[in-house]
Amino acid sequence: MDTIYLDNAASTQPDPQVLKAMREVLEQRWGNPSSAHEVGSRARIRLDESRTAIAGLIGCRDDEVYFTSGGTEADNWAILGVLDFWREQKDHFITAPTEHHAVSDVAKWWSERGGSVSWLPVDGDGRIDPADVAKAITPRTALVSVMHVNNELGTIQEIAAIGDICRERGVIFHTDCVQSFGKIPFRMADIVADLASISSHKIYGPKGSGALIVRRGTRLSPRFYGGSQERGLRTGTENVPGIVGFGAAAKLCMERLESENRMVRNMRDRLEREILAAIPNVRINGSRESRAPGLLNVSFRGCDGEALLVALDRKGFCVSTGSACSAGALGASHVLMGIGLDVETARSAIRFSFGRFNRADDVDKLMNVLPQLVERQRQTAPIS
Ligand SMILES: Cc1ncc(COP(=O)(O)O)c(C=O)c1O
Repeated sequence: MDTIYLDNAASTQPDPQVLKAMREVLEQRWGNPSSAHEVGSRARIRLDESRTAIAGLIGCRDDEVYFTSGGTEADNWAILGVLDFWREQKDHFITAPTEHHAVSDVAKWWSERGGSVSWLPVDGDGRIDPADVAKAITPRTALVSVMHVNNELGTIQEIAAIGDICRERGVIFHTDCVQSFGKIPFRMADIVADLASISSHKIYGPKGSGALIVRRGTRLSPRFYGGSQERGLRTGTENVPGIVGFGAAAKLCMERLESENRMVRNMRDRLEREILAAIPNVRINGSRESRAPGLLNVSFRGCDGEALLVALDRKGFCVSTGSACSAGALGASHVLMGIGLDVETARSAIRFSFGRFNRADDVDKLMNVLPQLVERQRQTAPIS
């Protein structure tokens, strides 16, 4: 049985060109990039090239890219680094309940430690009204964090408008771009962000590699102490193979972004149309006007998302429910609960996410089995 992978928002298959670049580094450029000799400088060259490729994709300066172990570390560092640096003057943090746990759990931790946190209201599509950000800012606000593209819904946030407000009010603005970097075109200057988190394994690069983009002049505490790497802010010998894989992946995105977006959007739109035509009582979750091209989140009312995922997996289709089973409401996704869905509708959701290695007939193959699986589940295990 062939496996059809429709979970590219969770992770992506490393591109063969990424593997080639990483292999070259592991075999031939394995030195410490901080070493002054030839072996070290061979690694340093590839490290610098990767930094340039990543900066080039979003139009920031090379020295604004700080490599991390991924998106989670970048999110944690951005928030804790700013809140720690400014804690004497300002202790207020503004974010949204629909953020990735790498942001929302840090906000909860900050609040449990006595810091002050405001949670922004979110509409039924997962959008935040920039006017609500303006209302929430106080003289003690140090940081606002609002993600660019929501990982469960695909909804694209109006972050430039939020960034404008933050800049006007002298508040640092962080945005989690893990689901937008390399997937939708944007420039750092256009999104008006001071800090942006990005990750390699969502764009056909290796896991354990990512970066925090720090706009020049933004003040935050270092992530680690003990060394001078990454301009003394994120120290420790660099993960050169991971960074080089990330750089190779970014380079490919630069070349292919437009054509791949068209391809995944076509597949996503066709799947959406066919689901709506063939399966009654479904709800499309997330903004249909402003949504990342490869992502589709659907509630199949009357089904249990986890059971549907398992049934699809048995037929060779990899999808996601989007829920981490950690939210209070019986394993329902905190994002879907955050946009106001009832527990049953939230628990019946499946996220399909397309990527570079999908083929048009993947949709046909899925639609050959999905309507029957949904129907069978509704008959045997009705939950509403
Ligand atoms: C929006 C978002 N932020 C952060 C992360 C975490 O990134 P990483 O897996 O690189 O730690 C993810 C990954 O699922 C994500 O989708």
